[in-house]
Amino acid sequence: MNTLRHDFDLDAQRRGTDAKKYDPSIVPNDVIPMWIADTDFTCPQPIVDALVKRASMPHYGYLYLSNDFQKAIIRWNEVRFGWKGLSVDMIEFVPCIIPGMIYAIREFSNMGDKVVIQTPVYPPFHDAVKNNGRQLVHNPLVLKDGRYEIDFEDLEIKLKDIRTKIFIICNPQNPTGRVFSREELEKMANLCLKYDVLMFSDEIHEDLVYSGNKHIPLASISEEIAQNSITFINPAKTFNIAGFRTAAVIIPNLKIKKAFHEAALKNKAIGRNIFGDVALITAYNECDYYADQIIEYLEETRDMMVEFFETRIPKIKMIKPESNFLVWLDCRELGFENQAEIKAFFKEVAKLELNDGTSFGFEEGKGFMRMNIAAPRAVVVEALERLERAVKTLA
Ligand SMILES: Cc1ncc(COP(=O)(O)O)c(C=O)c1O
Repeated sequence: MNTLRHDFDLDAQRRGTDAKKYDPSIVPNDVIPMWIADTDFTCPQPIVDALVKRASMPHYGYLYLSNDFQKAIIRWNEVRFGWKGLSVDMIEFVPCIIPGMIYAIREFSNMGDKVVIQTPVYPPFHDAVKNNGRQLVHNPLVLKDGRYEIDFEDLEIKLKDIRTKIFIICNPQNPTGRVFSREELEKMANLCLKYDVLMFSDEIHEDLVYSGNKHIPLASISEEIAQNSITFINPAKTFNIAGFRTAAVIIPNLKIKKAFHEAALKNKAIGRNIFGDVALITAYNECDYYADQIIEYLEETRDMMVEFFETRIPKIKMIKPESNFLVWLDCRELGFENQAEIKAFFKEVAKLELNDGTSFGFEEGKGFMRMNIAAPRAVVVEALERLERAVKTLA
């Protein structure tokens, strides 16, 4: 058993490196970056050690595609989420989730078909559908007493449409932080079975689930649901290894898997990356300790923030996330006329770079901003204090 302890308070010193989050044209020195979804934590030491070891072998030619990649994914899903019955032939590398989603959209629907997404949601979902000639259909999540819920009536109307071929969920959900329950997943999946709609489940945030909630892989619920699903995973978020561009799809239906594989082949997208392989395999085989500790750390930060917003910045309503280091802030009570003013307020007055809520859904995100809190706690506290001072200037 690994007894390592990771120091999440350590400053990873990313400014001035090649980190996109610190791009100086977006984030000048006096602004704290709380936007793009990677963490400011150093990556687990076993991954660093494995990469250094591989880097010290002075040949970097085409990679032999061993099954260690798939086996590590099988182990992780079984040990962490109790997802049993996975096999090597159900799993395929993709050069990140969104490219994989695009191959799948192109393969399993035709031009002009409809694809349903639940908004607000990660902006590339919108683009992956629209940029590939499919019709984007929103099933907006509904904010009720500070928590987002699924509108099943609206969902059924949209899935029933004969042109609807795919339904994409994000579980756990970015940006609302929802972790869908077994009942919710079952209900959505059963509607998809009823109306013959293929379901995609993006589970990239699966590891970062706060106490009192549980991540349930969609396809682990039943064989029937598994046979109608494609699951997308990537260790990028949990272990801060997004730069390796290495993700995977899990497709228990081997007919669908074969079609997906051929689509990936057509795009010449099957060769893996030497270092991405090492990072993913090490993460999923050796870094349970890190996944356990990061969520403990983030949970303390989240709880501190709930109290901070309630007592010191009550005009901004923080949607308390059930998962994830991405916090959805309801800023509608600040009284701005439009989104441009809200963005300018955060950047120019508070000196914080956040994501614009409308990029997650134009209507559903109006008046909202998304804050990335995966930084040493002292940085998050400093950001909240800046925001508090900025809000006071509005009085
Ligand atoms: C829901 C979701 N899917 C996918 C990604 C990106 O994954 P990838 O880099 O593998 O395309 C992100 C990154 O923020 C995300 O939040």
